[in-house]
Amino acid sequence: MATVEKSARIAVMAVCLDATSYQAVLHFISGVPGTVMVGNLDHYVGVEREIGRALDLAHIRICFIDYDQNTEEALWTTERLRSEYPDVHSFAVSAYSEPEAIIAAMRAGCAEYLLKPMQHERVLDGLARVVAKQKKQARSGVRGKVITLVGAKGGTGVTSLALHLALELSDQGKRKCLLVDQHLALGDASLYLGMGRHQYSFYELAGNGDRLDEELLKGFLLHHSSGLHLLDSPEAVDAIHGAPPSAVEHTLAFLADTYQFVVVDCPPGLTDGTRACISQSEQVAIVMTAELPSVRNTVRYMEHLSRLGYNSSSIHVVLNRHSKKGPLSDERIEKALGREISLRVPNSYNEVIRAINTGAPITSANKSDFGATIQKWAHELASSAGNNKVKAMAMAAAQSDGGMRAPFSR
Ligand SMILES: Nc1ncnc2c1ncn2[C@@H]1O[C@H](COP(=O)(O)OP(=O)(O)OP(=O)(O)O)[C@@H](O)[C@H]1O
Ligand SMILES: [Mg+2]
Repeated sequence: MATVEKSARIAVMAVCLDATSYQAVLHFISGVPGTVMVGNLDHYVGVEREIGRALDLAHIRICFIDYDQNTEEALWTTERLRSEYPDVHSFAVSAYSEPEAIIAAMRAGCAEYLLKPMQHERVLDGLARVVAKQKKQARSGVRGKVITLVGAKGGTGVTSLALHLALELSDQGKRKCLLVDQHLALGDASLYLGMGRHQYSFYELAGNGDRLDEELLKGFLLHHSSGLHLLDSPEAVDAIHGAPPSAVEHTLAFLADTYQFVVVDCPPGLTDGTRACISQSEQVAIVMTAELPSVRNTVRYMEHLSRLGYNSSSIHVVLNRHSKKGPLSDERIEKALGREISLRVPNSYNEVIRAINTGAPITSANKSDFGATIQKWAHELASSAGNNKVKAMAMAAAQSDGGMRAPFSR
């Protein structure tokens, strides 16, 4: 019988599992350290989101689905889980051993097909296979995307854009997504999201790098009702001491292994903390408005980042509060920048300020130009998510021959 690695943190959920099978799974996993049973849902339809959320941050997420109560709905649930939560592994449980039944379940996306009454050995072998598969994936360098937003100057709309982008990427909790408020003081993200402050901040997490793991992370997270997670900025009005850049890098690298998307809301300026975040990012968005100081600072940021070895294709210039009749034309801005504006976010003051004041963010359901623009941005990021590995390899290659991206801590 295979043994399941001790360090693996496994969360298990069941769907419509008969009482005997459920008790058997409970009994089998009780001998596997770090494994918890989250519950047994009594219906199939629409359970994907419940499962995704309940299994939350676990390293390895497994769902036992009973195929005998309603095979069609079980197949449907498996397919939905596969498309919406690709990292949840489905195990079919059934009394039927006909090849057609097994093939249908595997085609729908089941990782294992377990016959009733379930055998201890088969279940543990299944768990061990899933753990091994996930470890292999981790080794192959597939990690989440980090997107860092920084203002060309204060008040350009970084927090407003960061939180709406994060919400859109999270897609109602379907994707594991984290918003990091990287301000040393007076961060606004939790307030804009209509949430209370957390007693601990991102920087306190970064200060605990030596014992960083998912258990520790849990104690630092705020949970938004949409499923988005947030790491807050400190409550204090006066800036606290941050963590060293290497600790910020280490923390973000860990977060990128835990989440599919990490969106970082930075204070204006290329501070040490912000540069450490940028070094771990797939995309840096410089958020500017159509004003001279904003344009001038964006040019400076780009020059600085280019001196540090950053590829201009990973730098996104976002023109916020855009209006066709703005004080500076797009052509003039692009000429001054020496490059194209990557994204124009419309000026929607009433809508954005209402969202901030009520703590009720704008969603795609609002059918606004602002919402549609953020949705487009999120869509582009999500649809290129599969390229991470290729990109990472390209970066590694570029770094070895002169460098495209310079880790800050070197
Ligand atoms: N697209 C937009 N259209 C209209 N108003 C906007 C837009 N985006 C942001 N704002 C407004 O700009 C103001 C500043 O926004 P926000 O707090 O997000 O900026 P910030 O860059 O995070 O500021 P800080 O530098 O203080 O962190 C808010 O009043 C917000 O309503
Ligand atoms: Mg802000």
